[in-house]
Amino acid sequence: MSKLAVHDLAVRYGKLTALAEVSFTVVEGERVFISGPNGAGKSSLLSALAGAVRAAHGRIEMDGDILSGLGPEAIARRGLSMVPEGRRIFAGLTVQENLMVGTGMRRDRGAVADDLETVFNAFPILRERARAPAGALSGGQQQMLAISRALMTNPKVILVDEPSLGLAPKVVDEVYDRLTDLQTLRGLTMIIVEQSSARAARVGGRMLLMRSGRIVADGDATGFAARDLLTEAYFGAPT
Ligand SMILES: Nc1ncnc2c1ncn2[C@@H]1O[C@H](COP(=O)(O)OP(=O)(O)OP(=O)(O)O)[C@@H](O)[C@H]1O
Ligand SMILES: [Mg+2]
Repeated sequence: MSKLAVHDLAVRYGKLTALAEVSFTVVEGERVFISGPNGAGKSSLLSALAGAVRAAHGRIEMDGDILSGLGPEAIARRGLSMVPEGRRIFAGLTVQENLMVGTGMRRDRGAVADDLETVFNAFPILRERARAPAGALSGGQQQMLAISRALMTNPKVILVDEPSLGLAPKVVDEVYDRLTDLQTLRGLTMIIVEQSSARAARVGGRMLLMRSGRIVADGDATGFAARDLLTEAYFGAPT
């Protein structure tokens, strides 16, 4: 059975259709990149999966249970967590306070301390800076914090929106190293929005290419880097 099944998903903002007829499935433990030009609907797709925006229609299933219609907290409680575009760190709160933000809804409060420990082990810099204001962290450290915050709800599926944004290539290497380590360690299923097909190919995984609210290609990320599919997505397929 697939971990995640999306059927005919649509998102609209007023009259604007941001996402239309999006269908795909993801198997447990898979790493799926989503790429495509600005405005293609990548963030809308992730937000709809996480319950942060309401779908106009369609169905989202995780482990065969229907998620569509549930709010973000209920979805997080079932094991799906999102790292939003732009990180949305609370700059004035400490690193540890940022980590605790999403844990209020957890029933297994005793496990929260264990998860904090796991996160601190994965990202020792966050332990060192636990009492520092999050706004004092570097961009890369803030991205690690955003990822860690999502991990604090002990998800099985994690959605990461543009982790590379605004980071130097070496820092991006480090972020992806940590993400892939965590995926192996926890058996996570991951969906990552990544503009660079070269980067996706290097990290490895499947890629869905979006354009104008639709998935226009689906395949191995290495094939995408070699072919001109991204160019086609920007300029339209040759006629
Ligand atoms: N809250 C909103 N209200 C109205 N329109 C929105 C809203 N969020 C996104 N849109 C529009 O929906 C479309 C899809 O946006 P979305 O942010 O999902 O694209 P994206 O692929 O993530 O783009 P980017 O690469 O710039 O992050 C765009 O036309 C965008 O302007
Ligand atoms: Mg986006």
